[in-house]
Amino acid sequence: MTNDSQPRTQWLGRWGFVLAATGSAVGLGNVWKFPYMTGEYGGGAFVLVYLACILAIGVPVMMTEIALGRRGRGSPIDAIRRVTAESKGASAWSLLGWMAMLCGFMILCFYVVVAGWSFSYLWKMLTGGLAGSSVDDMAAIFGANNANPFNLGFWSTLVTVATMVIVGKGVQAGIEKSVSWMMPGMVVMLVIMIVYGAFSGGFGEAVQFLFAFNAGSLSSEGMLAAMGHAFFTLSLASGAILTYGSYLPRHASIGRTTLSVAVADTLVALMAGLAIFPVIFANGMEPGSGPGLIFMSLPLAFQAMPMGTLFGVLFFVMLSMAALTSSISMVEATVSWLTDNKGISRRTASWGIGIVLWVISTLAMLSFNVGADWTLAGKHFFDWLDYLTSRWMMPLGGLGVALLAGFVLNSESVREELGLSPAVHALWLFMVRYVSPLGIVVIFLDALGIATLEFGVQWPWLLLALAVITLIGELASPRLMRTLSA
Ligand code: PHE
Repeated sequence: MTNDSQPRTQWLGRWGFVLAATGSAVGLGNVWKFPYMTGEYGGGAFVLVYLACILAIGVPVMMTEIALGRRGRGSPIDAIRRVTAESKGASAWSLLGWMAMLCGFMILCFYVVVAGWSFSYLWKMLTGGLAGSSVDDMAAIFGANNANPFNLGFWSTLVTVATMVIVGKGVQAGIEKSVSWMMPGMVVMLVIMIVYGAFSGGFGEAVQFLFAFNAGSLSSEGMLAAMGHAFFTLSLASGAILTYGSYLPRHASIGRTTLSVAVADTLVALMAGLAIFPVIFANGMEPGSGPGLIFMSLPLAFQAMPMGTLFGVLFFVMLSMAALTSSISMVEATVSWLTDNKGISRRTASWGIGIVLWVISTLAMLSFNVGADWTLAGKHFFDWLDYLTSRWMMPLGGLGVALLAGFVLNSESVREELGLSPAVHALWLFMVRYVSPLGIVVIFLDALGIATLEFGVQWPWLLLALAVITLIGELASPRLMRTLSA
């Protein structure tokens, strides 16, 4: 047990938390997952729902998680338990912490495989292993890279070991500093690729694909995917942000930090889309090609552009670093829970987690070769890990966090912890009590086939529902009204 009177480790320096949280948020989710999901779910409408979810759900939930972590000063389980106890809420809320911890670990189990792709492409870039001139050549290279379990396993093992060494030595801060050159570097690289795309054809089509809103093109599945991705890309409901928040000093501004992390994260994702889709359209590639999308398209661009090898190497170095600053954040919740509660050292905890991780991630890695036919309901183990976490666990966890903060916790402590101006606080409260929960529930109902959503047609009804729910909520427990009149 931690001694509550003793201050917990805190971030060093003013930028510590922002760097770490940005490092956690910006990762494969932005550069690998966002483009391929956008391709799979048809473009503009997916992007719009994703952006709406970031704003209406992601940002308020992120602020809440940071506040919960800072007030509870512990792993998600301990922090939520303490904060809920302080407000005399039911202890069952700490189940949210358990789910978050499990979720972070499950994500890591497939994340190391994708990070392994990034490292292996860096190696190929350095050693000339990406020679080919067509989409088919690139698809063949990607396929061959996956087909050999020893090759793929080598790279995912390397990522697993690197993650655990960093976490075990407790040198995250050093790695997270890399965000201060990696982020600008990433942005510069993406700008170079966007400029290249603008001159090599396919750019107009890419912009059209990403930003033209075509309401009919989005399925319920796509809507759920967009919401889930908003959680994934901001590292929410998986213990990462909450645990990082537990190291945040008292005086830091939660509102401003959240905004800068969310803006950086969204910019990188949109820029990645603008960098990748021109290459896809210019080469006649199918946008819905799935998880291999960036690995089959980007190398073509690097081959064709001047100084392409240099840019390609730099790009994969940054992508690999971005993946590591995210993967270390996924273990932090579990490590902090083990060290606080089980009296285990950080080193032992991370090696223990590392072994379990290695076994499960190896099973996920086998989905691409030996275990190609091991499917359940049409999904491989790798897909199941992604599907369960992004589509269900994270939105559910986010819903729980919003309801906990909006209805259960003592409003005075929450207000004090968040430290927002009165107007912004009222907006935050309106979001976590009504807008985010309604959004999450409506998208769930739609995905379960219980209701059919057509935003183009139904928005007046949704607004009416929001107004009615707000009214009922405020009559039952008038917090928002009190905030506004204070
Ligand atoms: N946000 C990270 C990314 O976009 C992934 C992540 C999810 C990190 C959950 C931590 C926790 O790559």
